[in-house]
Amino acid sequence: MSYNLLKGKRGIIFGALNEKSIAWQVAERAYEEGARFVLSNTETALRFGDTNKLAKKCKAEVIAADATNMDELEDLFKATMEKFGGKIDFILHSIAMSMNVRKSLAYDELNYDYFIKTIDISALSFHKVLQTARKLDAISDWGSVLAVSYVAAQRTLYRYNDMADAKAILESIARSFGYIYGRDKKIRINTLSQSPTPTTAGSGVKGFDGLVDFTERMSPLGNATAKECADFCVVLFSDLSRKITMQNIYHDGGFSSMGMSERAMIQYNKSLEVDELVNRITGMNEEGDK
Ligand SMILES: NC(=O)c1ccc[n+]([C@@H]2O[C@H](COP(=O)([O-])OP(=O)(O)OC[C@H]3O[C@@H](n4cnc5c(N)ncnc54)[C@H](O)[C@@H]3O)[C@@H](O)[C@H]2O)c1
Repeated sequence: MSYNLLKGKRGIIFGALNEKSIAWQVAERAYEEGARFVLSNTETALRFGDTNKLAKKCKAEVIAADATNMDELEDLFKATMEKFGGKIDFILHSIAMSMNVRKSLAYDELNYDYFIKTIDISALSFHKVLQTARKLDAISDWGSVLAVSYVAAQRTLYRYNDMADAKAILESIARSFGYIYGRDKKIRINTLSQSPTPTTAGSGVKGFDGLVDFTERMSPLGNATAKECADFCVVLFSDLSRKITMQNIYHDGGFSSMGMSERAMIQYNKSLEVDELVNRITGMNEEGDK
């Protein structure tokens, strides 16, 4: 259902790779709400992903840019402003990648070249996008910029690895740049902390299915889907959220405020019973010794 919340608004959406991508769902929803936008991703992602299919659906233009490359970002912003004949109103940064996660390297055995790449792609790219936009005066007053984050910025989640550090930096950039952009241009900058969502990036975390099940059991409202995330992004791009800036906003069904839920405890107790049974059958004690 459309409320025309983004009628007349123009933007750039980074990170739509395929139908599962959070950015894909945001693009479809923003289009439904009357927005016009440019879709951007790396050359490689555009070659192997489905972004062009989405562009057709949303009547959007696709412009390639590696979000870590300042020249490519500048070209992207210039081309976008030329296309729209002026400034844009919103940006979605939905970008992340960690080779340490992909290769399942433990946090105490990180590859530092990969680590630097993780930070550059998943966090510094947000700063680079903002710095380029500011240099070109590309965003209208009261515009809205949003990046997608995860609760691992605040809490340790096994196997989320160096992406946790990247998310902490990402959220900090939203606060630091949010002050400058808010003071000078009334432009708001926020991060949205989303539930685990089965996407290409999400599923790259080993044990991801268990994590999704755990957070589903822990969250009173259940995990937030990519479509629900898109609904909220639309509100944050709209004029209905004009005074929200420099925030990390949880969109996680309540997970971030929970310690233990009934559903999670039932499951945990079941696993203890199974453990006990296995130990009894095999004659093992709790430490696994005979
Ligand atoms: N899936 C989850 O569980 C989850 C939860 C919370 C937050 N997030 C965040 O949501 C965002 C989107 O991820 P997703 O889950 O939709 O996965 P996804 O794999 O669909 O999207 C990640 C995107 O980043 C793009 N990208 C990678 N390197 C890039 C670069 N150098 N320049 C430009 N784009 C680049 C990829 O091409 C891809 O389109 C990420 O920031 C991710 O950390 C995801």
